[in-house]
Amino acid sequence: MFEQSFSVVSILLLCSSLCISAVNGEFYSSADKMMELENLEKELVIATRNFLTDQEKQLDEYRSFVARVKREHEVAEQQGDDYWELPLNTFRLTRRLVEDWEKLHAQLEDNPITNTYQVVVDFVAKELGFPELDDLRGIARGFVRLQKTYNISASDFAAGTEFSTGTFFLWRDCYEIGVHLYDQADYKAALEWLILAYDMLEEADIEEVKKFNLDVLEYLALTYIELGEKQMAVDILADAVPEDSSLPALHTLKYLEKRTEKCPDQEEEMDWRANYTILCQGKHLPRNEPEDKTLRCYRDSKRHPFFRLAPLNVEEAHRNPDIHVYHGVLSDVQIEEIYVAAEDKTKVRSTLHGNRVSDIRVSQQVWLNYDTPIMEWLKRLTGAISGLDMHYDELMQVADYGIGGQYTPHWDYMSSLSGEYELMGNRIATVMYYLSDVEQGGYTVFPQLNVFLQPIKGSMVMWHNQLRSLENDERTFHAGCPVLEGFKRISNIWVHSTRQEFLRPCTLNKNE
Ligand SMILES: *[C@@H]1O[C@H](CO)[C@@H](O)[C@H](O)[C@H]1NC(C)=O
Ligand SMILES: *[C@@H]1O[C@H](CO)[C@@H](O)[C@H](O)[C@H]1NC(C)=O
Repeated sequence: MFEQSFSVVSILLLCSSLCISAVNGEFYSSADKMMELENLEKELVIATRNFLTDQEKQLDEYRSFVARVKREHEVAEQQGDDYWELPLNTFRLTRRLVEDWEKLHAQLEDNPITNTYQVVVDFVAKELGFPELDDLRGIARGFVRLQKTYNISASDFAAGTEFSTGTFFLWRDCYEIGVHLYDQADYKAALEWLILAYDMLEEADIEEVKKFNLDVLEYLALTYIELGEKQMAVDILADAVPEDSSLPALHTLKYLEKRTEKCPDQEEEMDWRANYTILCQGKHLPRNEPEDKTLRCYRDSKRHPFFRLAPLNVEEAHRNPDIHVYHGVLSDVQIEEIYVAAEDKTKVRSTLHGNRVSDIRVSQQVWLNYDTPIMEWLKRLTGAISGLDMHYDELMQVADYGIGGQYTPHWDYMSSLSGEYELMGNRIATVMYYLSDVEQGGYTVFPQLNVFLQPIKGSMVMWHNQLRSLENDERTFHAGCPVLEGFKRISNIWVHSTRQEFLRPCTLNKNE
């Protein structure tokens, strides 16, 4: 009588049309990944809705069964002994007890609807991959990175004042970000978010305050003690926890009172950070020398026959070392073709070094060879603009940066050459194509040269990483600032030094 209307097969079919394979975990560093997560959640909504519908149907069946039994009992009471003189009634009562109730109890114990739901959820999770705790922590770290780079307080960040579309955080969001930062020992940042959570919670309704106040205070106290402010930590909890309480917070208080103070670790400050932060914000550094007024923008149709009809639009961003931006070299259609080529490749998240997640470079990247028409064309274009021999090129790297995605300052040249690089030589030049605009953030900055470049879709930037003498040029130290809003996609082609002897010869000046 209790039919099983839920079919595993139909759900699996439904799902498999949408399921795309996903790299396990590690989602936050690209927009594509977030879309995959959205698909995952859509599947969960469908499965859960089906589960609830079937569950309701089953409960309705139980209800009507119970109502029917009750009606039978009423009839039996009215009719008294006459009722039991009918053999059919005896049969029905016995059947109910032997079969129907038995079945009902068995279903409650081992519910096929719940089981099916579990099967579907497991299947979807296996196909699409669930995010993990590391992803959540990575996002919290990404927030702090943005705050630091763009000088945004937690409260401005939470109020969404920095973003073009109003987003704002609730006290709970702030609390959870604070806890994740605490767990990762970033106590200074954790403190800011926890104080914010506390202030916001105070504005909430009284029931909520009562329920969560101590949780927030407990973490605040723990954070203060890690920052070396023991008295503050003890005071916070002593005020909040009644002496006779059995709350866990009382144990925390006792633990804090006994704990010996430790000095907080001095945060490592990199000497590039000050310059980097200012440039990432799109501001120039104070200049020691007068501004180079000779930098100019011009159209160039002579460099290569390629550009006779469609001259290059060149912007000089820096001279010695030269950093040039070439505007409008890729069309939207061409960029779309590169996207398609990149989609075919499996993405490898670059923050994975073994199993350790590093924050130096947070992006997803793929490597493309030059076999397709668009890539072949791109290689010729790169050769024509750079004037360099493209024989020894590396695969082109396409990298995606999501919110908080960045690449901290580095040099593109290698400090020593081994393997195939012995033949190819070092990365004499970097050619970087911007394959997207970025709503906010994501500038390319050169902290030693006082240069920042805003990514503009279709533009390319090029510089030489080596002097003409093939000595590495340390001034080319550069970075990709974190993406504050939107996403960033770029591609890099590194041109190597072998076979460039006649194209970029040495001069008598060793430093040129
Ligand atoms: C950060 O912003 C605050 C005010 O919002 C300002 O006082 C401070 O100088 C800024 N710091 C930097 C390094 O830009
Ligand atoms: C910061 O920028 C200034 C001005 O351009 C420059 O003189 C200085 O060397 C830079 N510092 C670092 C560490 O790059």
